[in-house]
Amino acid sequence: MNMVDIIQKKKEGRALSDDEIRWFVDGYVSESIPDYQISALLMAIYFKGLSKEETFCLTDAMRHSGDTVDLSPVSGIKVDKHSTGGVGDKTTLVVAPLAAALGVPIAKMSGRGLGFTGGTVDKMESIPGFRTSLESSEFLDQVNTIGMSVIGQTAHITPADKKLYALRDVTATVDSFGLIASSIMSKKLASGSDAIVLDVKVGNGAFMENQHDAEILAELMVEIGNNAGRRTVAVITEMGQPLGKAVGNSLEVIEAIETLKGKGPADITELAERLSGIMIYLGGKAKTPEEGLEMAKEALADGRGLAKLREFISAQGGNPKVIEDYTLFPQHSVQKEIYAESSGYVTGIEAGKIGLASQHTGAGRATKEEDVDLSAGICLSKKVGDKVERGQLLATLYGNDLFKLENAAITAAAAFKIEEKNVEKPKLIKKIIGL
Ligand code: URA
Repeated sequence: MNMVDIIQKKKEGRALSDDEIRWFVDGYVSESIPDYQISALLMAIYFKGLSKEETFCLTDAMRHSGDTVDLSPVSGIKVDKHSTGGVGDKTTLVVAPLAAALGVPIAKMSGRGLGFTGGTVDKMESIPGFRTSLESSEFLDQVNTIGMSVIGQTAHITPADKKLYALRDVTATVDSFGLIASSIMSKKLASGSDAIVLDVKVGNGAFMENQHDAEILAELMVEIGNNAGRRTVAVITEMGQPLGKAVGNSLEVIEAIETLKGKGPADITELAERLSGIMIYLGGKAKTPEEGLEMAKEALADGRGLAKLREFISAQGGNPKVIEDYTLFPQHSVQKEIYAESSGYVTGIEAGKIGLASQHTGAGRATKEEDVDLSAGICLSKKVGDKVERGQLLATLYGNDLFKLENAAITAAAAFKIEEKNVEKPKLIKKIIGL
């Protein structure tokens, strides 16, 4: 086989065969095919697309490019959850304990944040002592004993996706349906759960900026999952404004804890209950998704979700006292407030700009090598639809470098739109596919 012929074929819009796809994936991982030829192929794929069959095959080739996780030592129907990435998305920290509290085994691998979307692993590392890296036997034992574990994804899972994603990032070829779907689903399939719930974000803070595109991506991922024998459901959710009020690592963990105490923002509470309800249903613990939702609401209201979070933090070496005492989290030394320059209603808070501003406070990284400031980030005082008076607080930025905060504040302030006439609050859950 020859890489030039494969690039030429895709450039002409013809479908690649299974053998050709597996050959270029293997060749890229084993370094017999150079970056420049794969870059050319990615650009051809970007313009000509991938058929469903090509996408299934690419997913499978990437899934088997490294280790796959065998969750068979864990009894029960294991259910995974994945978000396509948003600003302020701390849902995993609420959803996983709720589903686990109701007997659904959660054996989850999460990533670190890059760009303006945060990663669950960074968030969990803001808990003093918390270990995100466990031996596989420890990981499985923990799921069997307390019902859940969340760890960082190891380097040996889907190495093809790691290399391809890094190359896509620097060749402007990230935003392709087939490439996104195969990248996400190869990791989910390699991680071994029996069922998968996907939270597909739509809006200016997400990969998919409009509902139509989000639906195409969601349907494709659901098909890939089901085709591979894993029951898969996608929930399309709003990411025009940040989720909840906190953006930044420890700030988001605190908001997740508050949510499990029943005091969280309405949007994160609604989304967490809905997603865990579906997971409870897929995990065979409820007869319908509606019954799952009711069970999730009860587990949140009576504190079982919070108790499970406490158990989980302790099991992974973290200090569970953070649940009562937020001063145990890494602390900021400086803060900067943003005030409204006019009166009216908040009609928009661009999630993308808040994400960028949060990254500039030190809470996010622009390159994989950068360290994050676990105390840094932004707390919103207003959400879309809220009334605001001139001079009222819109948001507070936290961190350890005033110069960074002052720069970040300019971006954060530009995210807010204040108008005389109010708008309808955006619908959080837009569509569910695959139920
Ligand atoms: N997340 C992934 O893991 N891969 C993509 O391509 C996009 C988002």
